[in-house]
Amino acid sequence: MGTSANGSPDGPGVITVTASRSYEVIVGENLLKDAGSYICRVVSPAAAVIVSDDNVAPLYGQAVAASLEKEGISALLWTFPHGEDSKNASTLFSLLEFMAEHGITRSDLIIALGGGVTGDMAGFAASIYLRGIPYVQIPTSLLAAVDSSVGGKTAVDLNAGKNLAGTFYQPRLVLCDIRTLDTLPDSEFSCGMAEVIKYGVLCDTELFDLVKTGDARRHLDFIIRRCVSIKRDLVKKDEYDTGSRQLLNLGHTLGHAVEKLSHYTTSHGNAVGIGMVAIARCAYAAGLAPSDCSDDIAAALSAYGLPTSCPYETAQLCEVIRRDKKRSGQGINLVIPRQIGDTYLYRMDIDQLEVFFGKCN
Ligand code: NAD
Ligand code: GLY
Repeated sequence: MGTSANGSPDGPGVITVTASRSYEVIVGENLLKDAGSYICRVVSPAAAVIVSDDNVAPLYGQAVAASLEKEGISALLWTFPHGEDSKNASTLFSLLEFMAEHGITRSDLIIALGGGVTGDMAGFAASIYLRGIPYVQIPTSLLAAVDSSVGGKTAVDLNAGKNLAGTFYQPRLVLCDIRTLDTLPDSEFSCGMAEVIKYGVLCDTELFDLVKTGDARRHLDFIIRRCVSIKRDLVKKDEYDTGSRQLLNLGHTLGHAVEKLSHYTTSHGNAVGIGMVAIARCAYAAGLAPSDCSDDIAAALSAYGLPTSCPYETAQLCEVIRRDKKRSGQGINLVIPRQIGDTYLYRMDIDQLEVFFGKCN
């Protein structure tokens, strides 16, 4: 998959993302204590704001701060309450105010230390503070490691829906220390596995077969590198999400609607899993796929205790999907699995959605 090992045979793997800014994704064990030194290879800030939620900050904030101080970078830790509820304009502006009060300049740095909520919000803050300052992603959830920390999509949620305000803004570095996943609760690990399974369904039967039995924890290094490599390839082709990058939205159209209808009590990973099963089943029922791979997807999700059936009515879901940011004009691009490992984009008129999802929901 184009992943190259760097240093000793057991050393960290390095995957280079080529986009409007090129950067490395470094995947390995026990990297946090050297975070400052990795960071100094790509930027030279006088100060860094470590953005982290109240679960992750007590676990890893100090290690990252100490590694920065070892390199002569003064570290400030800014913490917010964990969870999707915090991914909003109010938290974002509190962070911006904090940076301004502490005199953070354009040559300083933001570090997103945490899951996808932290990464999306800190990345957004970096893209708009002083019209853009550098940032580094240090993912600590599986979801962030395999997906959200790479590719430069940043966002906060609005009342009307998820990720409705955001930017494309690439980080300077992604530093993924696999050992941080040791403290990730099992339920959060499973959420990340929904995205891993997504990559398998998308284009990688070997990955799908490896993880479908439920023992992904044994292969984390391989899995993360593989997923990041797939994402790297899609981002290189279509950084701004006008074409093939949209394949990464497999399961997300219905998934985002489930998240919204649950008032974000259903996690992103759980919702994406539900969305993948539904789209596979409905696509087969509608004659858009030659085979029905929904049972295989559901079995893989179940192996991680993830839900597979949708608790909402089709009409409710379609009402939310009509407001989805992925909609353009009168249509929306759906990601359809032909079979495991083979997917394509299909543009559907918004008026046909209810019939389509009604076939099997
Ligand atoms: P999250 O950031 O809320 O993390 C999940 C939970 O795990 C939180 O409670 C967090 O405190 C905790 N946690 C994280 N790392 C931990 C660790 N090592 N030890 C103990 N606890 C830990 O959510 P998430 O699932 O990481 O990410 C979901 C978010 O990512 C959603 O907002 C979604 O929209 C976004 N996302 C963005 C992209 C993108 O390309 N930007 C892609 C996919 C998802
Ligand atoms: N997670 C979707 C994307 O990065 O495009």
